Amino acid sequence: MYINLGEKHRKVGKMYNIAIDGPAGAGKSTIAKLVAKKLGYIYVDTGSMYRAMALACIRKGIEASDEENVIKICMECDVTINYENGVQQVYLNGENVNGYIRVEEVSNMTSAISVYGPVREKLVELQRSLAKKQDVIMDGRDIGTCVLKDAFLKIYLTASTRTRAERRYKELIENKIDCNLDEIEKDIIDRDYRDMHRDISPLTQAEDAVLVDCSYMNIDEVVDTIINLVNERKK
Ligand code: DC
Repeated sequence: MYINLGEKHRKVGKMYNIAIDGPAGAGKSTIAKLVAKKLGYIYVDTGSMYRAMALACIRKGIEASDEENVIKICMECDVTINYENGVQQVYLNGENVNGYIRVEEVSNMTSAISVYGPVREKLVELQRSLAKKQDVIMDGRDIGTCVLKDAFLKIYLTASTRTRAERRYKELIENKIDCNLDEIEKDIIDRDYRDMHRDISPLTQAEDAVLVDCSYMNIDEVVDTIINLVNERKK
């Protein structure tokens, strides 16, 4: 595994890492990207790393339930993170796969293969090494509870399942992708259940995380809430 943050991003001393966890579709990546821009942080999207591994399994025709082969493929594949114009790019065995990992098939496979311990260990190591070099805002499911237990600020960002499904529905319709709101909501409920009930690092709010329910908040309000929390803590 290889991480290229570039020399200018290398930093020593105290890190002000921010962890954002929460269920699918809560808006973590949208919020984290905006907060990162305002604070001059690197945004690390950990879901895309799991997605790259899920894509590797799909391409090999492996079922998520085939634990032995899923682990074999994930251990063999090379997941690389690079930043191009400040945007995270994920490479799978040298190929930029950013354009292939957001479809529903990959989302469902990702949730299913991320239950396996060796898969998680490999990616947690990559994520921790990124956070050592630069102030990061990292989003995922286990950032506050496992990856960055000593993060300077932890946020648990959530919204009702209906709100999250409606946001996803709007996004797909805007991209002219035919879809059904109830099916999207069902997928979200299934994914939440799997992510929250797996044995290793299930999605849960860290004891010291701040709960932000954004069901009735707009993007700017959520970003401002987080920036205010950062400023208060830095005082
Ligand atoms: O954040 P996302 O929707 O891209 O995540 C896709 C799946 O990856 C999610 O359903 C569970 C898994 N995941 C995880 O287990 N741990 C993380 N830190 C990030 C994602």
